[in-house]
Amino acid sequence: MAITILGIESSCDDTSAAVIQDGYLLSNLLASQEVHRQYGGVIPELASRAHQQNIVPVVSQALSQAGVSMDDIDAIAFTVGPGLLGSLIVGTSFAKGLSLSSGKPLVEVNHLQGHILSHFIKQHGKDNRCPAFPFLSLLVSGGHTQIVKVTDFYSFEIIGHTIDDAVGEAFDKCSKMMGLGYPGGPIVDRLAQTGDPERFSFAKPHVPGLDFSFSGIKTSLLYFLRDRLKEDPDFIEKNKEDICASFQKALIDILMSKLIKAVKETGIKEIALGGGVSANSGLRNAVTEAGKKRGWNTYLPEFRFTTDNAAMIAICGYYKYMAGDRAPLSIAPVSRARDFEI
Ligand code: KG4
Ligand code: ZN
Repeated sequence: MAITILGIESSCDDTSAAVIQDGYLLSNLLASQEVHRQYGGVIPELASRAHQQNIVPVVSQALSQAGVSMDDIDAIAFTVGPGLLGSLIVGTSFAKGLSLSSGKPLVEVNHLQGHILSHFIKQHGKDNRCPAFPFLSLLVSGGHTQIVKVTDFYSFEIIGHTIDDAVGEAFDKCSKMMGLGYPGGPIVDRLAQTGDPERFSFAKPHVPGLDFSFSGIKTSLLYFLRDRLKEDPDFIEKNKEDICASFQKALIDILMSKLIKAVKETGIKEIALGGGVSANSGLRNAVTEAGKKRGWNTYLPEFRFTTDNAAMIAICGYYKYMAGDRAPLSIAPVSRARDFEI
């Protein structure tokens, strides 16, 4: 008998639903919220409201595109956190209501574990190459920056994490300071492709062990821009490609130095990228090149699985369901990452 999982993701500003059958993706629907763009960041109240508007049509389209009905679903997997509380409440409440009305069990999924396990989403007609256990996941998003040692589908150990900002935040702030728009990561990435990464340098943090810090480099960019703008008010406009390329390189260098250190310390050479920032072309190249040079097996997620999506929630839910994991109807979302036992 095939096992079919409906996944629901609503942790930030994307409402998404997906259906996975025996690990194979049948559908993955996404409603992104354009409303935040004009504010230069996600407005939590508006995000919750947009989830309320989107969740019913998104789930029903995910089911119909997969060619299944609720009768065919074995379990409803949903993101329990971390994320914006108001956004998580919409997905969680919807999943609970659906569970009550359909009689299907609930499986709670940690959003970060979803990003990490996105490599295991199988697709018909593809080679479905995925990391072997144990592997190291460099998890880089708007809210998190971690190196996670993954021993099996259920065992995750954070061996390094940011002590302040996430790397995605540094990308977003860079774009904001330069007046380039939101979300910043893709804009900085695009401009960096035609810029000179060696033109400007930014002070790198000194953080012990496998931990990261991105707040200092952000401030360093702020002072750099302020000083250069005093000399030339058009400095940003004239040099935006080189600034983006240099700043992006500095961020990637920080990530790569800790990743290389983690490989040396653990002896694990299976390296997987995950999270929104894993869409970054410079980071993807850096990991691929380091892999070739150092004999690592590297795994880059497909672009549609880098940012938030329900397929990764459904695959994580699939493995948890197979292990007998069920969530009670009394479950409540958890917004903070540090409240999770990952
Ligand atoms: O995983 P995600 O969709 O949401 C969180 O869980 O945070 O990640 C969003 C982050 C944002 O900071 C966005 O700017 C960044 O991922 N991002 C990128 C790129 N695409 C998205 N950062 C750098 N380069 C990109 N191409
Ligand atoms: Zn995410």
